[in-house]
Amino acid sequence: MPNPLFRTKSIEQILADSNHPEHRLKKTLTVWDLTALGIGGIIGTGIFVLIGTAVVGDAHRPGAGPGIVLSFILSGLTCALAALCYAEFAAMIPVAGSAYTYSYVTLGEFLAWITGWNLILEYGVACVAVSIGWSGYFNNILKTLGLELPVWATHAPGTVEGAVANLPAAIIVLLVTGVLVLGVKESARTTGVIVVVKVAVVLFFIVVGLFSVEPANWSPFMPYGFEGVGAAAAIVFFAYIGFDAVSTTAEEARNPQRDVPIGIIASLALCTLLYVLVAAVLTGIVPYARIDIHAPVAEALRVAGFRWGAALVATGAVAGITSVLFVMMIGQIRVFFAMSRDGLLGPWLSKVHTRFRTPHHATLLTGMAVAVLSALVPIGEAADMTNIGTLFAFALVCVGVLVLRRIKPNHPRPFRVPFMPWVPLLGMGACLGLMAFLPTITWIRFGVWTVIGVAVYFGYGARHSKLASTREDFA
Ligand code: ALA
Repeated sequence: MPNPLFRTKSIEQILADSNHPEHRLKKTLTVWDLTALGIGGIIGTGIFVLIGTAVVGDAHRPGAGPGIVLSFILSGLTCALAALCYAEFAAMIPVAGSAYTYSYVTLGEFLAWITGWNLILEYGVACVAVSIGWSGYFNNILKTLGLELPVWATHAPGTVEGAVANLPAAIIVLLVTGVLVLGVKESARTTGVIVVVKVAVVLFFIVVGLFSVEPANWSPFMPYGFEGVGAAAAIVFFAYIGFDAVSTTAEEARNPQRDVPIGIIASLALCTLLYVLVAAVLTGIVPYARIDIHAPVAEALRVAGFRWGAALVATGAVAGITSVLFVMMIGQIRVFFAMSRDGLLGPWLSKVHTRFRTPHHATLLTGMAVAVLSALVPIGEAADMTNIGTLFAFALVCVGVLVLRRIKPNHPRPFRVPFMPWVPLLGMGACLGLMAFLPTITWIRFGVWTVIGVAVYFGYGARHSKLASTREDFA
């Protein structure tokens, strides 16, 4: 009998499961919805907030200085390699669940579970960091209007004196949760409008900021050498997360084989270009050591004398980060949904609301958990955890492409990764390389998270897995 840990799902079975009437989702998303969803998920807290810490550094690591431009290129290339692998899978297996589902058909149930467990870091914990970034810019706007909220209500405990909870972060999460229960099409449409606003704001920053660039600020270019650039690349990796969320909604796409690869690659390419320009302009306006770490992009314009421009950017950032929150929440909900449908998590998580046709249980669980953490956890810690889990999941996706080419060489592939096997091999190496730049404390937390995941798998999933009950491997 084969080892049950390595039991795999067949692609045919996955496609059949997703068509089961009790679990079927509406197929409404077009290529524009998908690209908007990608950009909606990408441009957010990473470029508007975390870029500050990446340039300046923090207690755990040196900053990149103006070399942040290289950090964005490094991280962008890593994501491009992983994106190509995602695209091959997403076109072959257009169902909810993303990297988790891909691992299930290639690497076996146990690694699929580990992938899904890491996707909770990628989407769920990312929502925590994203909503805290949202709260930072929201407070910035209120301050501009002379309506400052008290410190106790706007910061996580331990971050500043007197802080109790970050209430705006928790409240925005609960509002987004409410909208998502009502239906994905509605939220995709909202995302489309906000995406236009935020791309416009980023372009505005680049164009207006360009006139205030002092080339002398770009020197020294790498004040802490490659160590600083690498450490910053591991932080700003967060700014790229989201392109893969397109593949988590593949099951709701009208023409997934063609549109999902286009959506993933187009949104990633556009965002990389914008990030590199923002990074160059930002470090050209303000001497790197003086860059603000809470609202760096808006503050840079204020320093340059554009007060109204700063307010405009802050408003755009709030709108833009809201759309990221939508995409990341949708990603997390879909992953819970897929894992539950496979029996690895409780069946109530994959119930679809009879009227709204949305997975309302998974939505409510995600919303509550994220809201509580957003109120209580510091942004940097949430972002580092997100990055380590995501990089690991991306590495597994790269391995998965190699495995599937070997075990299913003739299965139709509407999109094929070019330059095999180099793209997935380099992608895996790049992901592991970026992980190496994350702080030791993040690695320790990641270890603990993994141990908990393994315990949950053997305590629940291994026995309740649909594959186990059909084959009685664990009976
Ligand atoms: N890429 C997303 C952001 O930066 C997660 O907010």
